[in-house]
Amino acid sequence: MKSLNIGIIGLGTVGCGVYNVLRAFDEINIKKIAVKNINKKRNIENLDESLLTQDAYEIVNNPEIDVVVEVAGGINPAFELLTAAIKNKKHIVTANKELLAKKGNELFSLAKANNVVILYEAAVAGGIPIIMPIKTILCANKLTKIAAILNGTTNYILTKMAEKDLSYETALKQAQELGYAETDPTGDVEGFDAAYKIAILSTISFNKKVDINKIYREGITKITANDIKSAKELGYKIKLIAMGQVTDDGRIDVRVHPMLVAKKHLLAKVDNATNSIMLSGYPVGDLVLTGAGAGAEPTASSVVGDILVLSSGLEHSQCPVPQAVCNHTEFADQIPIGETYNEYYISINASNNPGVIGLVGTICGKNNINISTIMQKGINTDNTAEIVVITEKSKESDIQNALSDLLKSESIKKIDNLLRVMN
Ligand SMILES: NC(=O)c1ccc[n+]([C@@H]2O[C@H](COP(=O)([O-])OP(=O)(O)OC[C@H]3O[C@@H](n4cnc5c(N)ncnc54)[C@H](OP(=O)(O)O)[C@@H]3O)[C@@H](O)[C@H]2O)c1
Repeated sequence: MKSLNIGIIGLGTVGCGVYNVLRAFDEINIKKIAVKNINKKRNIENLDESLLTQDAYEIVNNPEIDVVVEVAGGINPAFELLTAAIKNKKHIVTANKELLAKKGNELFSLAKANNVVILYEAAVAGGIPIIMPIKTILCANKLTKIAAILNGTTNYILTKMAEKDLSYETALKQAQELGYAETDPTGDVEGFDAAYKIAILSTISFNKKVDINKIYREGITKITANDIKSAKELGYKIKLIAMGQVTDDGRIDVRVHPMLVAKKHLLAKVDNATNSIMLSGYPVGDLVLTGAGAGAEPTASSVVGDILVLSSGLEHSQCPVPQAVCNHTEFADQIPIGETYNEYYISINASNNPGVIGLVGTICGKNNINISTIMQKGINTDNTAEIVVITEKSKESDIQNALSDLLKSESIKKIDNLLRVMN
């Protein structure tokens, strides 16, 4: 391997993991580490504090540094810093999914123009190797579908809601106390984090640029203990699924939302904070990769792996990982959610009147929706009843029309939830 000089921007959860794992690799010399607060106590034994700086430009402008490892996160100042580093002909290793999903186009074009590469194995699913396999050994394939659990925090919350009959709020609070969720959990529970990751995965799988702003996104905050219970009774678990697929007419359907996943499905067996990615394509068929999607050590496995790939590649060539050069020129034609087809779970709060089930059936029928299961779940103290419907595959816009027709009837009090179903 070629001896490499690197600079690391960020020494938090991932940065500390990377520093500790790199101790085993003498050929990688850490020249500088940038942090925000130089006086903070770090989770590192015998840290060489002379390496620390509060000025990340000391890294990106340092002529001795070959590779910039960005594990700070966010858009600013990461975008400006990596732009400067690339213009200074430094290769990049980053774990920053938000930056790549929002600014990847600019960064990859700039990297190509400057003959450097950006490696980002850790940006999607932490310790699970997925970026390099898609870019290298799976390149003989036409990949057509990704279905994945890409956010450990939401998977942990949904698992605990199901295991312990907890409300969303209680499960979130427990996840925060145990360090699985951040104090401000928005990025995870509203599906932003999973959307960044599926944008990256879909772009490299389908070879077209996916626009993060066109990804349909729903989080898990509206999932109730009742939904989890009904799903269980019907033979499903609720999971936050990130999905990307090529439709029959060649468009790309990319979205993130909770789904009822049939208990026999491999993704339904993935619990707690674990991540899992199911890829389908020709000729490989279906593949499932499962493992730790976050955490200092699993994420360091991917970051350090990228650094070592660069180190061995640079021994032979100035372009160390040619497969990492981004050649996507075309934007994907992304399908709006209204045009997608899914099976649905609809939870309806209705008056306990005779004929109400018939009414639901008639309105679904009028909107081209076939029902596969319908059940009434007891009577509430206010003389309303919860009706749960599972539909056959239907068009999303038909479902939305049916919901608004249902709400026009006096017998229907409210639609408690609408979720999509994966069998
Ligand atoms: N945590 C995971 O398991 C995981 C998994 C996969 C990917 N990622 C990604 O990895 C990145 C880092 O995540 P993390 O969990 O390690 O974050 P973190 O614990 O919050 O650490 C961020 C680090 O960046 C430093 N930093 C912030 N602004 C800076 C600036 N302007 N200049 C220099 N340093 C700066 C902070 O310095 P101070 O310590 O001085 O505040 C801190 O050391 C993010 O992009 C995240 O999405 C994380």
